[in-house]
Amino acid sequence: MPDPLEGPRDAAMLCTRCHLHGPASRTVFGEGRADAKLVFVGEQPGDQEDLQGRPFVGPAGQLFDTILGEVGIDRSETYVTNSVKHFKFEPRGPRRIHQKPDAGEVQLCRWWVDKEIALIRPKLLVALGATAAFSLLDRTVGIMRERGSIHKRGKDGMPVLLTYHPSFLLRIRDEADKARQRANFASDLAQARDWLAANA
Ligand code: URA
Repeated sequence: MPDPLEGPRDAAMLCTRCHLHGPASRTVFGEGRADAKLVFVGEQPGDQEDLQGRPFVGPAGQLFDTILGEVGIDRSETYVTNSVKHFKFEPRGPRRIHQKPDAGEVQLCRWWVDKEIALIRPKLLVALGATAAFSLLDRTVGIMRERGSIHKRGKDGMPVLLTYHPSFLLRIRDEADKARQRANFASDLAQARDWLAANA
């Protein structure tokens, strides 16, 4: 079967819609099944993703994979992408320090995210963190307050489940808090699994 995402993926490799394409190594487009029922949307590629050209393969992606496995979601059955397709960073010596994309960058890159969603037509979108929530719902979301809730997109009526970004878990120092927030994240992913079982 021809891959409907191939054309957009190729076109996105040449994207110059915003200035982030300059310093980044490459466009990191989404990856996974073109007929996925479940689409995960993150923020932007990190250092490892920029180098490898694949979403969620660095430390946050590895934690994401582990927790997906724990709740019984097979990543290869899903589609995983980002709100912004280029790595935004500040060079500091030999290191590249992650910079959060701003609203304008997210809005410009939404053109690609919406194309991915329109072609895949999943049953459920999962926003990993506030940037993804803004990209998908076009409003500011308080993730701590709203995680675990499902909202319908105005533009296509598609449901969006809000949850944390996995890198948030990596930044928590306090072990008890880390365990609590990890359990919340796992519970949100399990909710996505159960919602699909009931609705897809
Ligand atoms: N964080 C993201 O939001 N996306 C990635 O692909 C990697 C880290």
